[in-house]
Amino acid sequence: MLPVSGAGTGVAARPPIPACLSSPPVPLLPHETGTVIDQDLKTPAIRLRGVRKRFPGTTEDAVAALDLDVERGSIVALIGPSGCGKTTTLRMINRLIEPTAGRIEIEGDDVSNQPPVELRRGIGYVIQQVGLFPHRTIAANIATVPRSLGWDRSRVQERVRELAGVVGIDAQMLDRYPDELSGGQQQRVGVARALAADPPVLLMDEPFGAVDPIVRGRLQDELLELQNRLHKTIVLVTHDLDEAIKVADQVALLNVGGILEQYATPDELLRAPASEFVERFVGEDRSMRRLALATVGDLPFEAGPVVDVDADVTTGLAVIDDHRSDWLGLVEDETFLGWVPREQLVVGTELRQIERFLPAAQVAPSSTLRSALEIIMTSRTSVAVVNDAGRFRGTVTLERIRAGLAGDLDAPTEHAA
Ligand SMILES: Nc1ncnc2c1ncn2[C@@H]1O[C@H](COP(=O)(O)OP(=O)(O)O)[C@@H](O)[C@H]1O
Ligand SMILES: [Mg+2]
Repeated sequence: MLPVSGAGTGVAARPPIPACLSSPPVPLLPHETGTVIDQDLKTPAIRLRGVRKRFPGTTEDAVAALDLDVERGSIVALIGPSGCGKTTTLRMINRLIEPTAGRIEIEGDDVSNQPPVELRRGIGYVIQQVGLFPHRTIAANIATVPRSLGWDRSRVQERVRELAGVVGIDAQMLDRYPDELSGGQQQRVGVARALAADPPVLLMDEPFGAVDPIVRGRLQDELLELQNRLHKTIVLVTHDLDEAIKVADQVALLNVGGILEQYATPDELLRAPASEFVERFVGEDRSMRRLALATVGDLPFEAGPVVDVDADVTTGLAVIDDHRSDWLGLVEDETFLGWVPREQLVVGTELRQIERFLPAAQVAPSSTLRSALEIIMTSRTSVAVVNDAGRFRGTVTLERIRAGLAGDLDAPTEHAA
């Protein structure tokens, strides 16, 4: 898919180069000037109200009266079937496409009052087909915006090196040309270029659509790491549900005609689809997807049938009765020592003296519930020990996972990070 020109949209037709290059960038980096944007925490970074688009010569709205708030510093995924208006919505935000009706605000300012060129200074734009200049080195590609701002050589060089580090491009690659790089590397360069002038907002249109699944997964991880450091406001278009639920804080699921079917966290989308369309879109395995999304650390803490190794047998028996368990776990100084079977719990014996069995199933707080389930099932026990770098952090059972699925896995728990 080629970038759609602005023809027929009220915007002058533009050459097929990424918009972030065609607009002069921010004169100075925000961290050098002090932050210039309005930091009123109640104002969403991006707000769409009744935004509609009907392309000339068409009889249906491509986007129908869309309301959407994008919280500052969050990632929102626009997702939906092909032709549902994702790209149109994205391109209305940076005025590559002009809405037929409605209002779009960035930091409370109506974008229609801002000259498009000025507007795009604060908006990075990343597209699937990267659009690097083939005859310029990687460094020169990344430097496009700072150079057009007239930065001096050393400052440009410094910024290019900094950005290469940010997106994980080896310094040795900076003197190469785009066709010497893999698809994934080119995509990283595209991100570096979009970030060159440190815009607070990033628009990404299927940025990882052209790379293979393994590289895509890595690029998604990198985007999340980057976001942890940079806290941009990101709107990301994708048709890949797994990508949306992996990277997004909020998912906006559009139906054909740009109709917003649901705007929710990934977990809520999977747990409580708002319509039949959403239910069909998220699929029958939505419970498994939820398990892949949540971690053991998201569940409420549960010690399980576990006592200190210096407790007496009577206490141990009471604990396993409480848990209706056949095994008792022994812990010493935050270390899980092992399981002992109920038959061995004879009053008068010391727990420490009883032969222990190492846990067959062990998980970390960062393990997904899906992998915890897998480990519990394949080890044929009903409980996994949660260890965090060797320190006992509780237990997790099938029942606990099932109860977690029944609840809201987004809700903060006492063990949430
Ligand atoms: N310049 C245009 N002129 C006429 N129709 C268009 C134009 N651009 C997009 N459309 C139509 O608008 C709808 C939404 O397109 P688009 O936003 O590109 O969808 P998506 O990105 O979700 O696949 C589609 O039906 C598409 O054919
Ligand atoms: Mg599209």
